Amino acid sequence: MAIYEFETRTIYMTKQETFQLEFENHVIEGLKAFPKFLSSKYIYDDRGDELFQQIMALPEYYLTEAEYNIIDSYKDNLRKVFNTHGAFDLIELGAGDGKKTKVLLKELVTNKVDFTYIPIDISQHAIDELTNSLTTLLPDLEVQGEQGTYFKVLERLATYNKRPKIIIVLGSNIGNLDHPQAIEFLKKIKDVMSDQDFLFMGFDQKKDPLTIQHAYADSQGVTQEFNRNLLHRINKEMDGNFPVNNFEHWESYDPETGTAKSYLIAKEPCDVEIKKLKLKTTFKKWETIHCEISQKYDDDTVEWLANQSGLKIEMIYEDHQKLFKDYLFKIKK
Ligand code: AVJ
Repeated sequence: MAIYEFETRTIYMTKQETFQLEFENHVIEGLKAFPKFLSSKYIYDDRGDELFQQIMALPEYYLTEAEYNIIDSYKDNLRKVFNTHGAFDLIELGAGDGKKTKVLLKELVTNKVDFTYIPIDISQHAIDELTNSLTTLLPDLEVQGEQGTYFKVLERLATYNKRPKIIIVLGSNIGNLDHPQAIEFLKKIKDVMSDQDFLFMGFDQKKDPLTIQHAYADSQGVTQEFNRNLLHRINKEMDGNFPVNNFEHWESYDPETGTAKSYLIAKEPCDVEIKKLKLKTTFKKWETIHCEISQKYDDDTVEWLANQSGLKIEMIYEDHQKLFKDYLFKIKK
């Protein structure tokens, strides 16, 4: 009788490796599907981050300016609301370069409010850059950046820290989620909130459809390059051969549902091979890859999402051009 000895091995993966594996599985799923899709979640490598910075500086991309206007106009009110229960932690999910947040931070520091700023981002690089620039800009600010996925970090903060929390999510990042995913996201935030805590979150609003159309189909083609970065990444990281320039960006905003959808469309038929994934696929002329949704909201929809998630709206802030809103939430009792 033979004796077989099996070895049990634990494979440890870094966060980077886990994310890469997720990306690869997503590409397999998305390119085998009909119709094809690839999530905008994977656009953001260094080049993708840079392209998004360029988008935020586009004259057509009104979102950044509008939310900046809200924070700048209401900073005094926000300081008082956030400071209701004394010293607090200001936790920002998806901090980015913090251009809008800096206005708020400056307001708090200048008025000697007792708080710690905790930016959370998946990218350690983003955290380091932000922390460094803040040290110069606001030397008195207490910054405690945390690298990781939003929920891992939030859960940790909820258990070891009983200080009042203000959680902020700017930029209408929630717009990349469909409603069921948005509810799941809001619920997870609610789960780490106590009665006294606030959530302050940006939701881009329904408006003249042409304004939205132009924001996502800019005249300089930056958004096209942003979406194409998905294909560049697959070529580079998975040994693929997408003829990137054969794919044109298309934006379609539906004023009924408030959903802006972006696609890459094959102008000519082509074959694509991704060696690392042992995957071959073909594109017919005009075949699409759905890449992103950017959901637009109104008060009723946000109220419904809040209600579904165990939250309630405390206050609504709007910019002077009435393009964008930030909502202040508490947990529903
Ligand atoms: C980062 C999700 C807020 O949907 O408006 C910008 C990303 N995509 N232009 C958005 C994006 C195309 C952006 N968010």
